[in-house]
Amino acid sequence: MRPKITVIGAGHVGETTAHLLALKNLGDIVITDIIEDMPKGKALDMLEAGPVSGYDSFIQGTNTYEDIKGSHIVILTAGVPRKPGMSRDDLLNVNLAIVKDVAINLKKYAPDAMLIVITNPLDAMTYAAWKLTGLPKNKVFGMAGVLDVARYRAFISMELKVSIENTSAIILGGHGDDMVPLARYTTVAGIPVTEFISQERLNQIIDRTRKGGGEIVSLLKTGSAYYAPSASVVDMVDAILKDKKKIVPCCALLEGEYGVNGLYLGVPAVLGSSGVEKVIELKLTEDEQKMFDKSIASVKTLVDIMKL
Ligand code: NAI
Ligand code: 2OP
Repeated sequence: MRPKITVIGAGHVGETTAHLLALKNLGDIVITDIIEDMPKGKALDMLEAGPVSGYDSFIQGTNTYEDIKGSHIVILTAGVPRKPGMSRDDLLNVNLAIVKDVAINLKKYAPDAMLIVITNPLDAMTYAAWKLTGLPKNKVFGMAGVLDVARYRAFISMELKVSIENTSAIILGGHGDDMVPLARYTTVAGIPVTEFISQERLNQIIDRTRKGGGEIVSLLKTGSAYYAPSASVVDMVDAILKDKKKIVPCCALLEGEYGVNGLYLGVPAVLGSSGVEKVIELKLTEDEQKMFDKSIASVKTLVDIMKL
């Protein structure tokens, strides 16, 4: 039996994710939205692309939560994206109401599913989804770090004019402008990146990475990024369904790791068939810890506001 993957929210991220899942033949797909008929139209259009693109996925669009029954993985993209001048945090209240509604339906119709949250502000929404669904922590996690690292690697590859395949990096912390790219774990073909560029230039690249989401928002003007976010979550789904035990930066619940208790934050984690199977703890330098503490404080402020 093919895995059943549900994408909640058929907007930019949702539709692009569904299409990529199909192109990679990862399973049958359900795509839901509150806008009447729209997900049905998008799903049918994608299904009709199958004979040309070479995928067998059955793709169903729906406005009814009953159709998510039996889902193995649910990807939550429902929510409002930011507009120029807005931070991800400005989306807190409106998107929390959406997560509440989704959690009720998830418990009712797909209580055994694994949930990957994309809705912003990511770390707070992932925490809310975990609290409100009551699912175990390994089955609720968020996508942001894969995206942030993808941006960082793309910028390094452009700077050095080397293949993106040669670049490797890790980013810690919340999905905000105070995320913590770890320069000393940034390598090019296994060689520390600082062998190729000055620390000063690397700092500029790190700054661009931190503001990478905002850069796209200011260019698009009516929404936020969706190609790289969708590719990132599909990479996580691939790791789970193939039980790859892949280490990726992932928004995971910390219970003592990194000295943090009861908050979701971006950390390296092992992704396999059970979801987040292990959080990898790194020993941070004083400077890295300072940056991480700032990021923790930002996420905690939002979590406290939600009073869940
Ligand atoms: P979009 O506006 O294109 O699509 C959102 C969709 O959600 C709309 O079709 C809307 O009708 C639907 N929706 C709203 N309430 C719903 C509900 N209760 N149930 C089902 N569907 C509902 O927005 P886009 O660009 O797809 O972004 C979606 C969310 O993902 C935003 O919050 C955005 O900030 C976030 N995001 C997060 C990223 C990350 O790295 N974690 C990356 C990119 C986007
Ligand atoms: C991004 O970083 C919107 O959070 C999303 O592009």
